[in-house]
Amino acid sequence: MAPPEPDPPVVTSFRNEQVKFVRSLAVGKFRREHGAFVAEGLKLAGTAREMDWPVRMVAYDAAAPRGGFLDVVLDWARARDARLLPVTAEILGAMTAKDNPQTVVGVFDQRTLTLADVTPRPGATWVALEQVRDPGNLGTIVRTADAAGAAGVILVGTCCDPFSIEAVRATMGSIFAVPIVRADAVAFAAWAARWPGSIVGTHLAGTVDYRAAAYRDPTLLVMGSEGPGLTDATAALCTDLVKIPMAGRADSLNLAIATALMIYEIRRPALGRV
Ligand SMILES: C[S@@+](CC[C@H](N)C(=O)[O-])C[C@H]1O[C@@H](n2cnc3c(N)ncnc32)[C@H](O)[C@@H]1O
Repeated sequence: MAPPEPDPPVVTSFRNEQVKFVRSLAVGKFRREHGAFVAEGLKLAGTAREMDWPVRMVAYDAAAPRGGFLDVVLDWARARDARLLPVTAEILGAMTAKDNPQTVVGVFDQRTLTLADVTPRPGATWVALEQVRDPGNLGTIVRTADAAGAAGVILVGTCCDPFSIEAVRATMGSIFAVPIVRADAVAFAAWAARWPGSIVGTHLAGTVDYRAAAYRDPTLLVMGSEGPGLTDATAALCTDLVKIPMAGRADSLNLAIATALMIYEIRRPALGRV
């Protein structure tokens, strides 16, 4: 058996070009330019490995204990021709600006789909988010879609970046498992007009309780933006407008919470019991 490959020399300078590249990916403009994003932590790198997601670089704490899962991830990255970058803990921490830095920071290709890639298969639930603004909400929704077995998430109009560090962090690895589609509002409207099942909009003016609606399969769930909610044009596309009842003084639910309730209600027959 061939001896394991030696690690590259440890990078100790913030002026190193690769270190500067990883840090630049904190900015959306550079993420778009390079079609790349950063995911931090061994857990996320492990999910990327499971999904064999295209990996460009793995930076890691040169002082981290070896012989465990870190080596599994590094072996995978090496086999995928990714660059391995052993760095100091200080540099690793600066790559994600987190108080408790992880042992690994990976750089991955961005991958999104278009509406032409979406097939409304029987049993599928797709989640469309109109102008979602908050990366934490978006990441949480991607994670929930994954947990509940939804087919994917469609970003309609100008949305926050699903590949920002905050959004990726909130997905807890589901960014590598859930297809993400981007569409402008006009294309989405034309595409949705041919959807064969229910198009369920969630609206504070909805008159049907979300637990009482009959969801026709496949289901397209449409959620409004954190600020203004669903636009009139998108609400008009929906076959059903449902509301989640509220009893207290809150005038609405958080978008990610409302989406989670909806996905679990729509997928209740498919999910069965634990
Ligand atoms: C924070 S709310 C937006 C509130 C906004 N001011 C409005 O009037 O719709 C974000 C999205 O979550 C969903 N949502 C929140 N609470 C809801 C509820 N009680 N019933 C149905 N949908 C809800 C809707 O999709 C809404 O567009």
